Amino acid sequence: MLTVQQNERLTHVGPGTPMGALFRRYWLPIAGSAELKANPTKAVRLLGEDLVLYKDRSGTLGLLEASCAHRRVHLLYGIPEDNGLRCPYHGWLYDSTGQCLEMPAEAPESTFPSRVRIKAYPVQERQGLVFAYLGPEPVPLLPDWAPWNRENVRWDVGLAIVPCNWLQIMENSMDPVHTEWLHRYFSRYVLQRLEETGKRSKDEHWRPPPPVIPHVKIGFDVYEHGIIKRRVLEGGSEDDVSWRIGHPVVFPNMLSAGQIRVPVDDTHTLYVWYQAHPMEPGDEPQVASDDVPVYRVPLPGVDEDGIPIWELIDNNSGQDNFAWMTQGPISPRHLEKLAESDKGIIVYRRLLVEQMRVVEDGGDPMNVFRDPAKNKDLYIPNEAEEGDKTWGYRKERTFKGGLSTGSSGKYSVIGRQQASGQGAKVPERTAGV
Ligand code: FES
Ligand SMILES: [Fe+2]
Repeated sequence: MLTVQQNERLTHVGPGTPMGALFRRYWLPIAGSAELKANPTKAVRLLGEDLVLYKDRSGTLGLLEASCAHRRVHLLYGIPEDNGLRCPYHGWLYDSTGQCLEMPAEAPESTFPSRVRIKAYPVQERQGLVFAYLGPEPVPLLPDWAPWNRENVRWDVGLAIVPCNWLQIMENSMDPVHTEWLHRYFSRYVLQRLEETGKRSKDEHWRPPPPVIPHVKIGFDVYEHGIIKRRVLEGGSEDDVSWRIGHPVVFPNMLSAGQIRVPVDDTHTLYVWYQAHPMEPGDEPQVASDDVPVYRVPLPGVDEDGIPIWELIDNNSGQDNFAWMTQGPISPRHLEKLAESDKGIIVYRRLLVEQMRVVEDGGDPMNVFRDPAKNKDLYIPNEAEEGDKTWGYRKERTFKGGLSTGSSGKYSVIGRQQASGQGAKVPERTAGV
């Protein structure tokens, strides 16, 4: 249990908050590059700040505060020019540093443009994602996580704005026990509901949930890049890879570099599913960042009678989503009753508190990299390297991103293409995380 004040300190991310200061030390994904190809401007809310991402006609990306300095029109409607974004109302032009370059209605000799600058933040692209940095200078390096360097793969990006605070999503990742219930026992109940209501999923990618295998032991170790989660399932032992190697949470907000949870504000989170799919014969390689397809993942909900829409929760991502969302916009942790099986959550909260203090003391928190020599192919241990027969992991399936599970599962663009080509060889479910 936390006090109301402790909960606020851990969950609030706006400017001037301790957790906001911690998150402002990291590059955070805000969009898929392909979104800018389709539309050159995108409204972005990040860490409680309203911004506009744009691509100008020279191909330069910029991230500006959302409102024009003149009379506050939203720059989502801005016009990309050769060297920046022009406000649609009176034509003020801004470059990617936020500097105003032109005020067409003012006298040519006016020096006013040189004295107007709006907030602007650095952005960079990597394999289909646009990352932003909202923190103080000097700007750190974008981490070079080893899973992002896979060769002979194609990437896709799934996006959803989940209407709840980021912390309840991250805490779910420190809670292995939920997988046997939510993704297996409950999954079987969903199957029953679909069958009883005549709505059994006809989706070719859907597979029945595997049997429930109880956890008999869970463990959590802080390591250099985050927390390693370990488990022994009934019938297994500590010799299993799920205990020996375990699987990682990369601090502060990633699962093995493939699922990234980005605080939009205190009550919304951008969920990014970032998946690599091995290339198959005939596949065109992805050359430009905007060759990487972007798809939306639908959120679960209820119908007009208040009945759960079971088709949206027959997969792990839908199940996790309702578990996060239904705790409320910010989970009221002063009402929670943590048990022994919640010890991973306590380990994670302690690490957050420790790393907030590091920032308050003027230091660099975990996973901030400044030396290029030390930012190369950063290794993240993962049981999937060896495969885990007990829990159902297979190296190639996990590598593939899986077509279900805590991944974006059945909605993945490339996953669906590959599965269609493979007919009956659709990969089975991998473990929830
Ligand atoms: S409001 Fe933007 S130029 Fe006037
Ligand atoms: Fe889950």
